[in-house]
Amino acid sequence: MSKLILMVFLVLSIAFLLFSSSIYADDAVYIKKPVAYDANLQKEGRLVWQKNNCHVCHQLYGLGGFLGPDLTNVAEKGYNYMDTFLKVGVNSMPIFNLTKEEKLHLFEFLKATNASGSANPKDYKILMDGMIVQK
Ligand code: HEC
Repeated sequence: MSKLILMVFLVLSIAFLLFSSSIYADDAVYIKKPVAYDANLQKEGRLVWQKNNCHVCHQLYGLGGFLGPDLTNVAEKGYNYMDTFLKVGVNSMPIFNLTKEEKLHLFEFLKATNASGSANPKDYKILMDGMIVQK
């Protein structure tokens, strides 16, 4: 009887090790967009984001207000794109009179969210083993 328990334990241990190593060997899970951003400046940028309540109207990863679009990956459109929206304002987005420094920090924050992945659910697929990876 104790031999059987030992066998079951052994088989489960081996299965666990094989499964774990196959997951950690899978690069796809860890591939992130190689976008460089300054880690310290992006922290400042997050404060600008919070102070100005951007999240009241915008989402990051689908979380936030729904008056404006999700901004997780808006950095891909470039600094000037963001700058224009802040300067001019549109429809229900007010004009934000931010300093050049605040805007640079804010953009660094948006670059960081962009580098962390995509907010579009269609950019992901579910693998056979249940892992979710970015396409
Ligand atoms: C009162 C609501 C509101 C707030 C607060 C707000 N926005 Fe917006 N924002 C909008 C709306 C609505 C749009 C969409 C306008 C359109 O496309 O006609 C928008 C659009 C944008 C866009 C363009 C997005 C795209 O993909 O085209 C950017 C960038 C942006 N906002 C940045 C910001 C930032 C940064 C803040 C915080 C400093 C902020 N917004 C705060 C309502 C808001």
